[in-house]
Amino acid sequence: MTSAASATSLLSRLEDRTARIAVLGQGYVGLVVSMRASEAGFDVVGLEPDEDRAAALQAGRSYIEDVPDEVLQAALDRGYTVTSDPAGLVGFDVAVISVPTPLRETLPDLSYIEAAGAMAGDHLRPGALVILESTTYPGTTTELLGPILEERSGLRAGEDFLLGYSPERIDPGNPTYGLANTPKVVAGIDDASTAAVDAFFSAFVEHTVVVSGCGEAELAKIIENTFRHVNIALINELAMFAHDLGVDVNEAIDAAATKPFGFMTFRPGPGVGGHCLPVDPSYLSWKVKMQLGESFRFIELANDINEHMPQYVVRRVTAALNEERKAVNGSRIVVLGVSYKPNVGDTRESPAVPVVEQLVGLGAEVIAIDPHVPGLDHFAGAALRSEVDDELLASSDLVLLLTDHSEFDYDRIVKHAPRMLDTRNRLRGHDGEVERL
Ligand SMILES: NC(=O)c1ccc[n+]([C@@H]2O[C@H](COP(=O)([O-])OP(=O)(O)OC[C@H]3O[C@@H](n4cnc5c(N)ncnc54)[C@H](O)[C@@H]3O)[C@@H](O)[C@H]2O)c1
Repeated sequence: MTSAASATSLLSRLEDRTARIAVLGQGYVGLVVSMRASEAGFDVVGLEPDEDRAAALQAGRSYIEDVPDEVLQAALDRGYTVTSDPAGLVGFDVAVISVPTPLRETLPDLSYIEAAGAMAGDHLRPGALVILESTTYPGTTTELLGPILEERSGLRAGEDFLLGYSPERIDPGNPTYGLANTPKVVAGIDDASTAAVDAFFSAFVEHTVVVSGCGEAELAKIIENTFRHVNIALINELAMFAHDLGVDVNEAIDAAATKPFGFMTFRPGPGVGGHCLPVDPSYLSWKVKMQLGESFRFIELANDINEHMPQYVVRRVTAALNEERKAVNGSRIVVLGVSYKPNVGDTRESPAVPVVEQLVGLGAEVIAIDPHVPGLDHFAGAALRSEVDDELLASSDLVLLLTDHSEFDYDRIVKHAPRMLDTRNRLRGHDGEVERL
């Protein structure tokens, strides 16, 4: 079957929702895609090798905050299934690969894409479509995934099957923008593949943005994250200098932001975390180094600054305690928020990990509080609780705000904390009572 004929046949099955969809990886990205595809009327199977995760989903228990149990149950009622058995891929028309792309000792770890590609390749049939959604360097779809699919299936990309890339922009915890109303960049290795990727996502995303090749789509995602990463690093470095210059950096940012054009607001913080900012730019700098032999200096500099922010926070804690004639060693420090951003429970790459580890290493008694990270007693060597306790606050030497969850009652916290350092500019208006980064 030619690519054009394959695409026509698949397009009509996408149109009438009879296409069978397999989503490899049921995490923050894959589970949300599965839910939306199921709502759109597709027959969806989730491939999840973590058997505990698969069992939880199959029993109607979601571990992703953006997917409530009711939404999961409704999908199960419509026929959505989850399995750890690769045989679940039998007969798929569209396979979406949304597996992790972490770093292993600062280098891209593509083993998850390779494993998922091999699984999809083993069940690939003529006329089917494979879409990579994981964030990765430009070239991954055509140089890595395509050859794996071809080798495992004995079929040819673009001749026998369709292949594309579409980056995910999901922002966990964002109440305004979700998968449906965030424009989705789509691309394929040829026109037929592009049309099929576009048709699939158009079934449940309001607006797609077609680009001419997978490389452009892959790079688009990394530009978005590198842009944030570099700008946050700029503001973080500025914040450190501004503090030493005796200038309120956040007030200066507010003033700069009144310019109605040519400025975008970024805020200093204790570092960057999550699956994206500390990781994705390094995929690009690795590719540039490997293929062009050049250093991507902006990314290296941003990594360096953002990775050192936890150390700077510890230095500011030390200085604050020093003013009270106290040492870190033996002080009781209450840390508010350990996830990498507000109102989510994701602690991957969270800057709270090195901050807490360093404080504990210096001999502090650290009690961390995070209402979004339940079920754990400890975090990075500190005790972990889910609720703020007035007596605990009052008995501390310092309260350190790392992640400004909206559950925290800040007036109450400021009232009871003997001394406080706010790394998120949340407590503006409490000047004199609270020190800010
Ligand atoms: N989390 C986000 O906010 C976000 C946003 C945009 C893009 N992304 C990107 O999307 C990709 C997935 O991220 P995530 O946050 O969903 O990760 P995640 O860790 O939440 O989920 C990935 C899932 O894939 C499973 N998995 C591992 N190997 C597999 C395999 N061979 N086959 C099938 N499943 C496998 C894991 O068990 C896990 O459940 C990454 O490349 C990430 O950078 C993430």
